[in-house]
Amino acid sequence: MRKIVIAGNWKMHKTKEEALELVNQIKAGFKDNGEVKVIVAPPFTSLPYVREALKDTTIGIAAQNMFYEKEGAYTGEISPLMLKDVGVHYVIIGHSERRKYFCETDEGVNKKIKTALEYSLTPILCIGESLEERKSGKTFEKIETQLEGALRGLSSTDVKKIIIAYEPIWAIGTGETATPEQAEEVHSFIRKKIAQKYGNDVASYAIILYGGSVKPNNAFSLLREDNIDGVLVGGASLKGDSFLQIIEAGIRVSGGES
Ligand code: PGA
Repeated sequence: MRKIVIAGNWKMHKTKEEALELVNQIKAGFKDNGEVKVIVAPPFTSLPYVREALKDTTIGIAAQNMFYEKEGAYTGEISPLMLKDVGVHYVIIGHSERRKYFCETDEGVNKKIKTALEYSLTPILCIGESLEERKSGKTFEKIETQLEGALRGLSSTDVKKIIIAYEPIWAIGTGETATPEQAEEVHSFIRKKIAQKYGNDVASYAIILYGGSVKPNNAFSLLREDNIDGVLVGGASLKGDSFLQIIEAGIRVSGGES
C-alpha cells in the first residue's frame, strides 16, 4: 500500500520568523495516523531552523533545488552534501519554474537525480506539459520525454526511491486545477510507462503526486483517484489552516472515505 504524501512547496516565501510560525502551526495541527506523510519545502535560508522545529515529529523536510556537484567553484549553488548536513530528507528537482526561469534541462535534471540518490536524498521529480502542449494533443509525448530524460541510466532500485510529481504548467499558480479525471489519466500513463521500463513491482511502489492549484476544496477529489498518491501544494501550503485542511483530506482518503 502506498502512503499518501502531502507536500508543501513554499517557493520563494517566508523569512525565518514566518517559516517558524507556519511550521509550528502545522506541527500543532497535524495528528499523524501513520498513513499520511507530510513534507514541507522551505527556502534554503530556513532549512536548519525548520529542521530544529520539527525534530521530534514525522514531518519530512525538502529543499526546493540543489546542484549536482558535491562542492566546487559554483557560485550561488547548494550541494547535496550541504543539504544532508542540515538534515534535509527530500529535494524537489526539475520544477517547471526552474526549467522556465533558470533554463533547467532534462539532462541537468537527470544529473541532479543521480547525485541526490547518491546522498540518500529522495528526489521529488516534477514533470508536466504547458497549455500549448495540452491543446495540441502533446501531453503524453511531453510527459514521456521528460520522464525518460530524467530517469536515464537509473536502475529499478533507484527508480523505486523517487517520488514523481505531475504538475501541468497551466495549473500552477493559476487557480485552474486539472480535473481529477485529467490528472488520473496522466498519472496512470506515468505508472504504465514505469511498469513497461522497470517492471510492475517498481510501478506499484511509485508515488505519483499531483500539483497545480491544489486547495482545500479540491484536494479530496484528487486524492481519491487510484493513481494519485499525494499532492504537491504551492500557494495553499503557505497558510497553516489551508495546508492542514489538505492534510485532513489525505487522512480521510487514507481511512477509506470515498
Ligand atoms: P500552486 O503551485 O499550488 O500554487 O499551483 C504548485 C507547485 O508549483 O508545486
